[in-house]
Amino acid sequence: MTPNEIRQKFLDFFKSKDHKIIPSASLIPENDPSVLFNTAGMQPLVPYLLGQKHPMGTRLCDAQKCVRTGDIDDVGDNRHLTFFEMLGNWSLGDYFKEEAILYSFQFLTDEKVGLGLNKDRIYVTVFEGDENAPRDEEAFNIWKKYLPENRIYFLPAKNNWWSAGDNGPCGPDTEIFYDPNETPLGDITHDEFVKADDEGRVIEIWNNVFMQYEKKSGIVVGKLAQHNVDTGMGLERIVMVKQGVKTVFDTDLFVSILEKIKELSNVRDEKIERIIADHIRTTVFMIGDGAIPSNAGAGYVLRRIIRRAIRFGDKIGMKEKDLLLLSDIVIANYSVAYSELDKNKNLIKIEIEKEESKFRETLERGLKEFEKGTDPFVLFTTYGFPIELTEELAKEKGVKIDRVGFNKKMEEHQKLSQTASAGMFKGGLANHNEKTIKLHTAHHLLLAGLQNVIDKNIKQRGSNITEERLRMDFMFDRKLTDEEKKKVEDWVNDKIQRGLNVVRKEMPLLEAEKIGAEMEFGAKYPDIVSLYFVEDEKGEAISKEFCGGPHITNTSELGVFKIQKEEASSAGVRRIKAVLE
Ligand code: ALA
Repeated sequence: MTPNEIRQKFLDFFKSKDHKIIPSASLIPENDPSVLFNTAGMQPLVPYLLGQKHPMGTRLCDAQKCVRTGDIDDVGDNRHLTFFEMLGNWSLGDYFKEEAILYSFQFLTDEKVGLGLNKDRIYVTVFEGDENAPRDEEAFNIWKKYLPENRIYFLPAKNNWWSAGDNGPCGPDTEIFYDPNETPLGDITHDEFVKADDEGRVIEIWNNVFMQYEKKSGIVVGKLAQHNVDTGMGLERIVMVKQGVKTVFDTDLFVSILEKIKELSNVRDEKIERIIADHIRTTVFMIGDGAIPSNAGAGYVLRRIIRRAIRFGDKIGMKEKDLLLLSDIVIANYSVAYSELDKNKNLIKIEIEKEESKFRETLERGLKEFEKGTDPFVLFTTYGFPIELTEELAKEKGVKIDRVGFNKKMEEHQKLSQTASAGMFKGGLANHNEKTIKLHTAHHLLLAGLQNVIDKNIKQRGSNITEERLRMDFMFDRKLTDEEKKKVEDWVNDKIQRGLNVVRKEMPLLEAEKIGAEMEFGAKYPDIVSLYFVEDEKGEAISKEFCGGPHITNTSELGVFKIQKEEASSAGVRRIKAVLE
């Protein structure tokens, strides 16, 4: 089975169980201030897991693009990747453990409707219990219907409790593992299983979270109003298992990319080849969803990944612009499932090329400076060496660098770009608290204001909201004058003072497109969508956007809107930072 077939089979299976197939959300979350990228399929669904009604119903499934850079140092082994697709099915207050486990088992093992995997190679883990929730005897007993008892292991919260961060929905989970070895491991004890997992001799393929609890500031505060199921299966891993190969890099998802790398290089180094293959895939998907290399936030992660790929490419004799040839292959491989890549092909290649030439301008001199022992901060600001790159170089040479000192200088240098340092890369969902919700509504008003005051064709290109401020990138080719900024502010403040209603509506995608509602750059939408309108006194829409919310209900709650900064973000893209006072 090809990866496209496996992805489709998964979606078809859950469709047959009354699930609605929803498209992958953009890799870059629109309104979540605490994560730079979606790290799990559930992330775009958080409001619905917390109880909001989803327009497509209570049973959903999808393949979601995800990025996790926490394991970047492990990329190159048999199973770690920075970009992956997560296949997931959700129950939003609908079915629970009984059906979730049955569906997983059926999909994995059934010859006809599923993948027909050998059930003798499956092991599962369940939650052993702690102060937050009891030992999951229920999941254990359900699993016993399908697997021998000695292949079901109880493990602590470290392994079998899932949450996306310190805030949000969470719960105990059951993880499904597969034994891909030529000689099967057979019956193994609890301790032998834990060891096999550590050593990558059993592969975790699927996680089923029984999402029934909520965390606030890292502490489980109680049960949610509804019980949910949140599952995630790494496509690359399940393809590896199904295709019976030893690593994710031996699957159809990587073979053609790796072949091209071998052709373009003159030194054989399997680990480096894998790293480059991983990084080019991640790069293509990130830019395809609107990320642009920069020194902060998502753009910084992208920069770091491209520059890392370039440096490793150099080590095995790849040449300038070879990454572009690799990007062609990634785009071709994935264009069936992700048409946005083909659509944004030019943009993707232009951004890679620009970033490479920028990096190459200083790479050689930077490496010389590094040899002399130059301060990592100077390497970053003058030579464009991401700190992680300097750390890797240092590790190769067996020297240590002063990361704490670097972080301090960075903080002093630029308060805002602090988000680029390691702390922000960890997954984690922010509370949708009052302040961010208000800024989110102000964000909609700002876009409408720009269109009304400056140019009706202005399109949003990216957004980010923290508790302190909102940030919007939009396509426009020049600086705004002070007078224009003032006019936009006045326009927004007028809408705030008039106390206009903010209304959520659901409608078919075609209708929403017809009325010209604002869409998120690069996003794909389901057949029924959620929109937010700000309506004037007569009920006419002065703002209409595709959006899952949440929002406040009346603009009078917002306070005073103020633009703090308007600057260039990249060619043809401006960036506004604004606050509510
Ligand atoms: N949200 C769960 C995970 O990412 C399914 O593992």
